[in-house]
Amino acid sequence: PQERHYYFNVSTMEERHPDGMGRTLMVINGQYPGPMIEAHSGDTIVIHVKNQMNSDPVTIHCHGLFLRDQAYNDGASFINQCPIPPGGSYEYRIKLDPDQYGTYWYHSHYGTQYADGLFGPLVIHSREEYEDLDYSYDKELVVLVNDYYHDAGYKYLPTYLAPGNENTEPVPDNGLIQGQNYFNYVESNYVVPNGGNISDLTQEVSHTVFNLDPNSTYRVRVINAGFFLPFEIEIDGHMLEVVEADGTLVEPIQVSSLTMSVAQRYSFVLLPQEEDFASKNYWMHAQFNRFCAKEENPNFDTDVKAVINYTPNSNILEPTTWQYNGGDVRCRDFDQSKLKTLNTKVPKVANGSNLPDLRVDIDILFMIGAYQMARGYLNDKTYLPVQNGSTMYQAAFALGGTPRKDLNDNQVFSFKDNQYIVNLNKRGQIVDFVVNNYDDGAHPFHLHGHKFWVLAIGDSGYFEDEYYHESGAINFENAVLRDTVNIPGFGWGVIRFVVDNPGVWPFHCHIGWHMEAGLLLQINALQDEYSQWDHFPQDWYSQCKYWQNRL
Ligand code: C2O
Repeated sequence: PQERHYYFNVSTMEERHPDGMGRTLMVINGQYPGPMIEAHSGDTIVIHVKNQMNSDPVTIHCHGLFLRDQAYNDGASFINQCPIPPGGSYEYRIKLDPDQYGTYWYHSHYGTQYADGLFGPLVIHSREEYEDLDYSYDKELVVLVNDYYHDAGYKYLPTYLAPGNENTEPVPDNGLIQGQNYFNYVESNYVVPNGGNISDLTQEVSHTVFNLDPNSTYRVRVINAGFFLPFEIEIDGHMLEVVEADGTLVEPIQVSSLTMSVAQRYSFVLLPQEEDFASKNYWMHAQFNRFCAKEENPNFDTDVKAVINYTPNSNILEPTTWQYNGGDVRCRDFDQSKLKTLNTKVPKVANGSNLPDLRVDIDILFMIGAYQMARGYLNDKTYLPVQNGSTMYQAAFALGGTPRKDLNDNQVFSFKDNQYIVNLNKRGQIVDFVVNNYDDGAHPFHLHGHKFWVLAIGDSGYFEDEYYHESGAINFENAVLRDTVNIPGFGWGVIRFVVDNPGVWPFHCHIGWHMEAGLLLQINALQDEYSQWDHFPQDWYSQCKYWQNRL
C-alpha cells in the first residue's frame, strides 16, 4: 500500500468555454472536470485542498468510498465536516478499504458547487478485481458525462425552491463528455440564462475525441457526474459487455445501450461488431431524456456525442455511423430492463436470511402539489441547515402537508433539532430500507459510507409485505451491490446493507436540486464506538455556524 498525494487548488475562473458558451466555473488546478484520482485498494489517498475562491466555502466528497472509521473525512457539509472557508485548507487523508476497488468519483458536497465544476473521476485498481473479471482488457478509458448549465447553480435556486414551483427543476443547456461538447443552438430560440448574451458564445468547441488502438481491448468506465438528468449511453457499431456497477463486479451482460442515473457508474468491455471497424470512426452517444427535454429547452440537443477514433484514422474524420434501431431516438423511453437482471459476481450472497434484523420504511414525498409542499420530504421531514443549532445535526421546517403514511413509529428514528436521525447501533445488523416513491419523478438515492444490495425495484405500485415471501419478488441471492439506486417515479425499491461503519452518513437523492430541497436524512451508525466530532478542532464550530447562516 502506498500514500498518494493530490494537491487540489480550488478556484473560480471566468470565461471558461466547455461548449463554447462563456461562463464562470469552479475549477481544480485550473481543470474542468477535476483531475483523476487513481490508487490501488488499501492505499491511502491524501487530498490537500486549498480553497482559493473568494467567497465560497468548499468540501470534497469521495463518492462511494467506505471511509471506514473515517466519517470525518467524508466531506458532506455540516454533516461530516464544516466546509473549508475561502483562504482555508484541509487535508483529506483517506485510507482505502483493502477490499474496495472500481470506478468512483469525487465532488463538492456544498450547495450547488458540483454543477459549477467541482467534480472528477476516482479509480481504484486491484489485482483481485482483475483476476475475478472474466475479461482481460489491455487498456482503460475513463469517460465522464454530465449535464451542463450555462450559469451558476446558485442563481437558479431561489426560483426553484420558491413555493409553487413544483417540477420546475432547471433544465440543463447542454451535456458534456469529458467536459466538452459542441453547443447545438438555434440562435432565434436560445434564451441565454440569467440575462446573458448570445455573443458570449465566443468559441467553437467540437466533440471530444477518444483515440483508441484497434489492436487493444478496452474497459470503459463511465461516470454520470451530472446534477440532474439520467442518460443512456451507446457506441455505434459496438456492443457493451457490462462488468462493473458502482465498484461491484457483476455477472457480465451484453447490452447495446446502458441507462445511468446521476452518480451511477458502469464499466463495460467495448466489443466492436464490424469487421472493418479499425478503418472507421464511430459516435459515442449519451442520450439525455427528461420529459423529452427538447420541448422544455429547444436548445438542449439531447444527443450528446463524442468521437471514437480508431488510430491511425484521422481524428477529425466525422463518424457517419448511426445505429439506432429506428426512428427518432430523442423522445424514446429508456429501457432499463436488462440492467434489472444485473447480478453481483463477487461477493455472492446478500446474507443467509430472507428477513432483515431491521426494516426501516421511508416515503419519498416530493414537491407534491396537492399537499402544497415546497420541498422534498422523507416521511414527514425535510432537511434544512439550522441557524442556531447547538450541534452539526440539521433541523427541519415545521411543515404543512400530511404524509400519506405515518411510518415514524419505529424505534430507530430519533429527532435532533426536529431532524430525522436513523440510529443503528448494532454492529453487523442487517437493515432493509423500503423506499416508496410517491412522486412522479425517479429519484437516484445514494447512501454514504456503504454499499447496499438492491433487493428489488418496483416500476409501479408500492411495496407490499408479501413480497418478502413471494418467490422471485425479491432477489436474496445475488442482487447487485451498489451505492446509488434509481427509485422509479410512483414506484419503490428495497435496499439492504450491513451496519458496520461508524459515523453519521447521509442518505439522499443525488439530484442536486433535490438535495437542496431537503431530500436527505442522516444515519447515525454505531455511535457508541466512535464519534466523528472528536476529529474536529473546536474553533471550526463557529466557522461552521457562519456558513450555515449564509445558506
Ligand atoms: Cu455523491 Cu452525498 O454524494
